[in-house]
Amino acid sequence: MKGLIISGGKGTRLRPITYTSAKQLVPVANRPVLFRVLDAMVEAGITDIGIVVGDTAPIIEAAVGDGSAWGAEVTYIRQEAPLGLAHAVKISEDYLTNDRFVMFLGDNVIEGGITSLVKQFAASDWNAQIVLKRVEDPRRFGVAELQDGRIVRLVEKPKDPPSDLALVGIYMFDHHIFEAVKAIKPSWRGELEITDAIQYLTEQGYQVYPYIHEGWWIDTGKMEDMLEANRLILETNESRMEGFVDADSKVNGRVVIEKDAEIINSTVRGPAIIGERTRVVNAYIGPYSSIYHDCLIADCEIEHSIIMEHCKITDIHHRIEDSLIGRNVEIVRSPAKPRAYKMVLGDHSKVGIL
Ligand code: TTP
Repeated sequence: MKGLIISGGKGTRLRPITYTSAKQLVPVANRPVLFRVLDAMVEAGITDIGIVVGDTAPIIEAAVGDGSAWGAEVTYIRQEAPLGLAHAVKISEDYLTNDRFVMFLGDNVIEGGITSLVKQFAASDWNAQIVLKRVEDPRRFGVAELQDGRIVRLVEKPKDPPSDLALVGIYMFDHHIFEAVKAIKPSWRGELEITDAIQYLTEQGYQVYPYIHEGWWIDTGKMEDMLEANRLILETNESRMEGFVDADSKVNGRVVIEKDAEIINSTVRGPAIIGERTRVVNAYIGPYSSIYHDCLIADCEIEHSIIMEHCKITDIHHRIEDSLIGRNVEIVRSPAKPRAYKMVLGDHSKVGIL
């Protein structure tokens, strides 16, 4: 089987981070979401992987390379505009040819990986298998209707849901999907929808089966979801100590201190992770915090946040919480008079001030 990771898109809901980078490269628990998708594929035995990329192609290609870091062979497929998930499949036909494949959205994180579902589909002669998850409010999702164990219908954000089984963004197909993506028309939002393509398969009598996923699954498209994925992954981390903690510091709970990180006169309360070469000085790092590489965190308190690389956060008197801070950000005390907030913020930045 081959793998297809969908990693283009606009990422409007994650601005300003997505002005300068790809949302799939935001680190959750200090590992980019896309790397986690690649980890899951390779763990399931899939090493021939296509990645659909858009405007952020150069950044994604620089980060992932040829896939050899995973023992995989990666082929990039350029999508000229985000014209829908079914469009992403359509442009991948030359790469996928007649192979069965698993398609995974590059900004999704799933508990427990994809090995068992890939195994089940690989051993079957089904035309498609769609990963579903029971949700509390199906009206917010694409929902599947099942009959005799098969998927017979899909409905987008139904007012009157036929089940509580939502589509989670992992799909497995054989080559009949190309017939479907060529037959469907763009939706009201101008996209070729993967749900319409799957619906086409069911209407043509192809065998479309569900796979009901029991663990958590998160689409990290929004800031809150990114923090939630970070929280859930940190929960599963084991403690690891590869850096330095001085005698005046306290490290409690499940904490990962990566290589060459330094904790000086500080408290780190897990679950948390401190990245390589990051210095935490006279500071408090609370639960569900991921501080990435090469940061300086001094005289401040941070909790339930993701801080990306090369940030400097010093001398802040109120705790920073529920925050997603991009690369090379400085949050420091204004040194000169007049005493005032002094900011350089990109478009769509959000700041909450006490
Ligand atoms: P979405 O999160 O639905 O779309 P988006 O990335 O454009 O985000 P926003 O709504 O905030 O503007 O996309 C899910 C995943 O699929 C994500 O990894 C981007 C990718 N994608 C493509 O590569 N091509 C596409 O045509 C679409 C619609 C999504």
